[in-house]
Amino acid sequence: MPRIEIENKVLSCPVIVGTENEKAIDISNLRAQTGYITLDDSLANTGSCKSSITYIDGDKGVLRYRGYPIEQLAEKSSFTETAYLIIYGKLPNESEYQNFSNLLTEQQILHEGFRHHFEGFPNNAHPMAMLSAMINAMGCYQSDLYDERSGETSNFDKSAAQLISQVRTIAAAAYKMSIGQPMVYPYPNKRYAENFLHMMFSLPNQPYEVDPLVLHALTLFLILHVDHEQNCSTSTVRLVASSGANLHASCSAGVCALWGRLHGGANQAVVEMLTKIKNADYTVKDFIEKVKNKEGGAKLMGFGHRVYKNYDPRAKILQNAAYKLLKTLGKGDELLEVAHELSEFALQDDYFIERKLYPNVDFYSGIILQAIGIPLNMFTVMFAIGRMPGWIAHWKEITENTKQRIYRPRQIYVGETHRNYIPLEERL
Ligand code: CMC
Repeated sequence: MPRIEIENKVLSCPVIVGTENEKAIDISNLRAQTGYITLDDSLANTGSCKSSITYIDGDKGVLRYRGYPIEQLAEKSSFTETAYLIIYGKLPNESEYQNFSNLLTEQQILHEGFRHHFEGFPNNAHPMAMLSAMINAMGCYQSDLYDERSGETSNFDKSAAQLISQVRTIAAAAYKMSIGQPMVYPYPNKRYAENFLHMMFSLPNQPYEVDPLVLHALTLFLILHVDHEQNCSTSTVRLVASSGANLHASCSAGVCALWGRLHGGANQAVVEMLTKIKNADYTVKDFIEKVKNKEGGAKLMGFGHRVYKNYDPRAKILQNAAYKLLKTLGKGDELLEVAHELSEFALQDDYFIERKLYPNVDFYSGIILQAIGIPLNMFTVMFAIGRMPGWIAHWKEITENTKQRIYRPRQIYVGETHRNYIPLEERL
């Protein structure tokens, strides 16, 4: 057993070994026995939990949901099936799949009260702000779903289906409101991604014709975003859930965490970056120099990852899908060319090689979304739609753990030491 020796006190730390032979030392008794805590700013080297949902080997570029390689799921599964797998831990049999799919259909219509919520937002409200507010509000309309911890699993099943189904309805409705068009109601018989495109792009008396390749690319996008273990938004969901907060509140917090440019907001930032280069604001070479010199904090968006020190397997799949889609649609390939040039340049540059910076999932996903016709400010919302089943799976895992304690990290205080209050009139 590894031992930590501090000021003549010795602590033996049990070794925890995962099913893929990942190793950790358990330091949970460190403070009680030595008075020390560990300090790991931004938790880069801290395992915050044991989880059986997703496995990543960042050095080898491996990603598996519940043991299944992402490449196989991307090629053969559907979003609904992958959502079931991630939440319930197994691939569904036919009747389980049908029941789950029916539940998603039953839950897809928003309560009419949501119209008032939408009307309360300014026209230029960011859809991520609307999404997080609406997800939290959803819980208020379903008091029977509010406390999923009541022990009745049907509540959880219904809540989970409602979130997966309605996140898509809310996203499309927010878009329609923002462009001054009436909301489009979902069809009961269309598949998940197809129904989303219908709600986004159908007009009164003019149903949207879905191109199968567009549908395939969107489904792929959603499957690839379903889960990614302890990323910022998922850790947020787990942290909030650990306090006993309900599923809606926890997932709403996940949306807020996803919004930032270093996380889900990167897909929008990538397309903005590529567009600037395309519009000749600067050349690829100049931009890379800016990044290397960290000019104004410039980063090559869509590159780098806390866990992957190799190609993100999702980026490879989306890169191929982007080429196929754009070739067939015959549009947007200028952006893809810039992306190609930029990544070729970066992958041969010592700055990126030394730091093991490779394209991540966001490098190509925005190009696909743009080709589908999704507006730029909705890109991160698309990430949230895909990630919803993952957040739900993590909420379920943490809630079912009877030994779960509230997340409550410690800190090293570096502020002022004790000082006495001085009345205002005596202050200099
Ligand atoms: N462009 C330029 N330099 C970078 C980049 C980048 N994209 N990413 C990391 N670096 C540098 C960083 O400046 C640091 O350099 P130095 O050693 O000189 O200080 C070094 O590489 C190590 O990076 P880090 O910031 O310590 O890495 P991190 O693990 O804290 O951050 C990251 C991971 C994804 C936030 C970061 O790579 C990044 O900001 N990438 C761009 C934003 C992006 O694409 N985000 C999407 C991530 S994938 C989808 C998701 O899960 O959200």
